Amino acid sequence: MKAIRVHEFGGPEVLRGEDVPEPRPGAGQVVVRVRAAGVNPVDTYIRSGAHAVRPALPYTPGLDAAGEVEAVGEGVERLSAGQRVYVAGSLSGTYAELALCEESQCHPLPEHVSFAQGAGVNTPYATAYRALFQKAGARAGETVFVHGASGGVGTAAVQLARAAGLRVVGTAGTEEGQRLVLEQGAHHVLDHRAPDYLGRLTELTGGRGADVILEMLANVNLNKDLEVLAKGGRVVVVGSRGAVEINPRLAMTRDAAILGMTLFNATPPELAGIHAALTAGLEARTLRPVVGRELPLPEAARAHEEVLKPGAYGKIVLIP
Ligand SMILES: NC(=O)c1ccc[n+]([C@@H]2O[C@H](COP(=O)([O-])OP(=O)(O)OC[C@H]3O[C@@H](n4cnc5c(N)ncnc54)[C@H](OP(=O)(O)O)[C@@H]3O)[C@@H](O)[C@H]2O)c1
Repeated sequence: MKAIRVHEFGGPEVLRGEDVPEPRPGAGQVVVRVRAAGVNPVDTYIRSGAHAVRPALPYTPGLDAAGEVEAVGEGVERLSAGQRVYVAGSLSGTYAELALCEESQCHPLPEHVSFAQGAGVNTPYATAYRALFQKAGARAGETVFVHGASGGVGTAAVQLARAAGLRVVGTAGTEEGQRLVLEQGAHHVLDHRAPDYLGRLTELTGGRGADVILEMLANVNLNKDLEVLAKGGRVVVVGSRGAVEINPRLAMTRDAAILGMTLFNATPPELAGIHAALTAGLEARTLRPVVGRELPLPEAARAHEEVLKPGAYGKIVLIP
């Protein structure tokens, strides 16, 4: 089968198409025919060698995909050949025609959700769900500020928060992105490139500030977030690309909590809860992954360049 392989850590050019042997399912395992694979910023950090997760070389990148069950191993009970699934991690990597998974990594994909959309479920939605509910404990009636709402995690967070009865304010850096954020259900959208856009958040909340902030670029925004946080508010650091200075007094006077998270730390029971909720949301159509761009699998290197550029618009997916 065709797969994208990485033989050395480095820039996007280390992603190369190769023929590799087809995986066979062992006991408790499933082989999925990948119809679309999701591209996430974290795939680029892992590929560069700078991430805490350093796979043994060579490896096939990718954590997310959707497709059909091709074959099941002994003892697999929940899944059968032909079933539509989305994949939450795999044993062999998802930038490939086939992916070898544990049964627990495969979740049903409703008929009305396309494979390209299914490839955008795992990392973005699981992260948004964990940030909102497992970390911040967001409750109906609260206000959430999704600081960076036009990308994969942001659009997911807007849909999840809206369906859960929160008041949602999101941001994007382009007009298209801002439209997209409103279409996903945000009550208000702000432009994080405009001067004093955070003053507008304060106005929108009657001076109280946001109860929950999901932060996609903490190295730029964390101190500013603390200035627009309500008393008892929680900031979840979802993304950060460097260091930042904060004034701890801002947290002190608000009884605020700054919560870090990485999806890689979620325990098996937490993941089971997350995917039960995501499956229900897909079935109920409150969750509708946004596919901004589809690229053929051999263009994985281009996808890695694109996913780090400003002007996010939902997900980039690779089609084998
Ligand atoms: N902790 C975890 O477990 C975890 C899991 C998944 C992702 N992440 C991280 O979370 C971040 C977002 O992931 P993603 O998949 O959603 O990426 P993405 O699709 O590339 O989206 C990035 C988002 O950040 C926004 N942004 C850019 N500049 C900003 C600024 N100055 N202030 C606020 N937002 C800004 C972008 O808006 P515009 O492009 O419209 O300007 C866009 O909405 C990445 O850093 C990723 O590595 C962490």
